[in-house]
Amino acid sequence: MPGLITMDDLTNEEIISILDDAERLLPIAYGERYLPLLRGRILGNLFFEPSTRTRMSFETAMKRLGGDVINLGDVKNSSVVKGETLYDTIQMIDGYSDIIAMRHPRQGAAQYAADACKVPILNGGDGAGHHPTQTMLDLFTIRQAHGKLENLRVVLAGDLRYGRTAHSLSHALVRFGCKVIFASPKSLSMPTEIIADIVRQGGDVEETEDLLSEINQADVIYMTRIQKERFPDEDEYLKVADAYKLHARDLDDAKSEMIIMHPLPRVEEIHPSVDETRYARYFQQAFNGVVTRMSLMCWLLGVGVPGDVIAASEVIA
Ligand code: NCD
Repeated sequence: MPGLITMDDLTNEEIISILDDAERLLPIAYGERYLPLLRGRILGNLFFEPSTRTRMSFETAMKRLGGDVINLGDVKNSSVVKGETLYDTIQMIDGYSDIIAMRHPRQGAAQYAADACKVPILNGGDGAGHHPTQTMLDLFTIRQAHGKLENLRVVLAGDLRYGRTAHSLSHALVRFGCKVIFASPKSLSMPTEIIADIVRQGGDVEETEDLLSEINQADVIYMTRIQKERFPDEDEYLKVADAYKLHARDLDDAKSEMIIMHPLPRVEEIHPSVDETRYARYFQQAFNGVVTRMSLMCWLLGVGVPGDVIAASEVIA
């Protein structure tokens, strides 16, 4: 069944059309209007790893469009602890829902699930693999700020080795002709197979360890958390835990329209002083998860988003 496992599942035209639909759905996401496009549909939320934003924004998106949500809930309270396989769990949820959002610690698990079930799967993160629904909200946020996706200079910083958000986003950005700079400690650099893939697509990428010297030229700085849970041992994590800490005083020479993004949760990599600057976009970015996930679910379920959402929807009193 078609789903969204990696960004390769979408053409550039499809990406733009999904972002356009998402933009029209903003009044629904704000809760100002009601439009039950997905009434009678059930989303199965299957999160085998911790999640706040991805799980809850999927849930908000479905409910704002009049649909319902079932949750696996805490894995510790599910049959997974009795030894149920992913295959068997998927078989069940496949029968209980019309579409599934899934997160799993193992890379490749989302594709495996998609092969095993009939309803569309949205990959909400598979280990250190991919996170395409995050990329869609990232692209939405970039376009909202810059009015375009093409030919921007984007710095991806932090844990590029294990960070799945950076993997999916870098693939998408080069497809729109962005210049991508990978800023990371050597031990957390972007996997060579991803760089090779990007270069094969004609992508323009550079690598550096020096984040600060990239700030003044950047259109977007995309910070990421060091993915502690993916390190084979704690000592290795401690060596790089403090690699980057962006502070408001580092931004004096930034371009005025530059934006700072982060998929969140942040740990120490963005100092709270940055929150008060004009550059901070990470909370807006997290909100944008609702509209983009609304739009993605409509697209996968074959439900058209009306051209005039305001005319089609009801005012919420
Ligand atoms: C990210 C993830 O789970 O990959 N979070 C998210 O979905 N917003 C980033 C992270 O955990 O660091």
